[in-house]
Amino acid sequence: EELRADGQYLLPGAIDSHVHFRDPGYPHKETWKTGSAAAACGGVTTVFEMPNTNPPTGTIEALRLKQKAAESSYVDYGIHGLLGDDTIDRLEELLDAGVTSFKAFVGNTFGNLPAPSDGALLEGFEKLAPLGIRTVVHAENSSIMARRQHRLEEAGRIDPLAHLASRPAVAEIEAIGRVLTLAEWTGARVHIAHHSAADSLFVLRAAKLRGVDVTVETCPQYLLLNTNDMLRLGGILRLNPPIREERHNQPLWDALMDGTIDMIATDHAPHTPEEKTRESIWACDCGFPGVETQMPLMLTEVNRQRATLMDYVKWSAAAPAKAWGLYGTKGVLAVGAHADIAVVDMDRRAVLSQGRLQSISKISPWNGRTVQGAPIHTLVRGRFVMRDGQLVSEASGWGQSVKGVQRMPTPRARNTEHYISAVLKTPEGVPPTAVPADL
Ligand code: NCD
Ligand code: ZN
Ligand code: ZN
Repeated sequence: EELRADGQYLLPGAIDSHVHFRDPGYPHKETWKTGSAAAACGGVTTVFEMPNTNPPTGTIEALRLKQKAAESSYVDYGIHGLLGDDTIDRLEELLDAGVTSFKAFVGNTFGNLPAPSDGALLEGFEKLAPLGIRTVVHAENSSIMARRQHRLEEAGRIDPLAHLASRPAVAEIEAIGRVLTLAEWTGARVHIAHHSAADSLFVLRAAKLRGVDVTVETCPQYLLLNTNDMLRLGGILRLNPPIREERHNQPLWDALMDGTIDMIATDHAPHTPEEKTRESIWACDCGFPGVETQMPLMLTEVNRQRATLMDYVKWSAAAPAKAWGLYGTKGVLAVGAHADIAVVDMDRRAVLSQGRLQSISKISPWNGRTVQGAPIHTLVRGRFVMRDGQLVSEASGWGQSVKGVQRMPTPRARNTEHYISAVLKTPEGVPPTAVPADL
């Protein structure tokens, strides 16, 4: 098919390392068909889906159910299997059956999966290190949070900020430190999910300087929202880790610029509007859909000159492709059968409207926000899945697992000089602009 893109930009399709498509288990929140339609309409050509479904993706039977559900996907996908105490003995088997990577829920969140013990985490990393397989970690300390929550509940707190108070930044700092210690000890590759706190960046910087193979994602909500929005929007902004105070926003942005944070993911976490607006702030239905709004939100920041378009390509496509062993096949601009492409119009202005989202969960903190810059066509392996802003409904089922093209993740450069100079030699107050040599 012919593609005309006069005056527009061709970008590699975004690769989202963190989505929850809820099937099997919670198809009233989202299905693979609706979630991947949202991805297609958001310029996202590959997603990595999380294992806190029901049943959790920690057995072959559960994986088969997920693979079946994923057959309706519009976009390509990887599947994160569950790393928990009772899955340690099945990791190789799960890999053989099609998972691309693992996820450890070290902090409690939706699905109530028990956090792996430190012993199990160590053992899991020992098994995965020689295989080169990366593990995503939701790094928050459950014990700190459970105790805080208990105290706040006892005190009768039901305001949205109590949710933040129950998940203090120290819970993230502590868990990241622990996970990185185990990763360094074993040589395992790890990926820190939804990084939210400015205070823990020093732990990541130190580990990266020592050569630990850790990749880090943050999400638009941690960069662009803070407790001021929480006071405005209330409970629908409940999210794990929480939306934090304004002082966190700019340091996270700076960390993307200097390479401490590698990429943007969305943590697309749909729940029904009823679940999001119910009285109790302690219900575990945290999160909101994001895979469809990431690109317009971030392109708007590019238009505001907070980053270059090349920075965005690095964060949205190149870095996740490298982290998950897809670089070269994905995360680059290719033509023909490998063309995973988002055609974007950097001038297009729109007001984001939650009612128009593809997601079943039509509730979004971005509702009413003005954006400038949007994907207008999305192609997955050369085929339109979104054209002129419209979902191509016949393309449901075109998406396939990336397992077949996954190789070893791109090794971290041994020479960290570039990183060191970006982080350490920056004049005070001036955010460094680090552009990797290979872009
Ligand atoms: C996620 C969900 O609902 O599955 N919720 C969230 O608040 N982020 C789970 C998670 O990523 O921790
Ligand atoms: Zn999480
Ligand atoms: Zn998540």
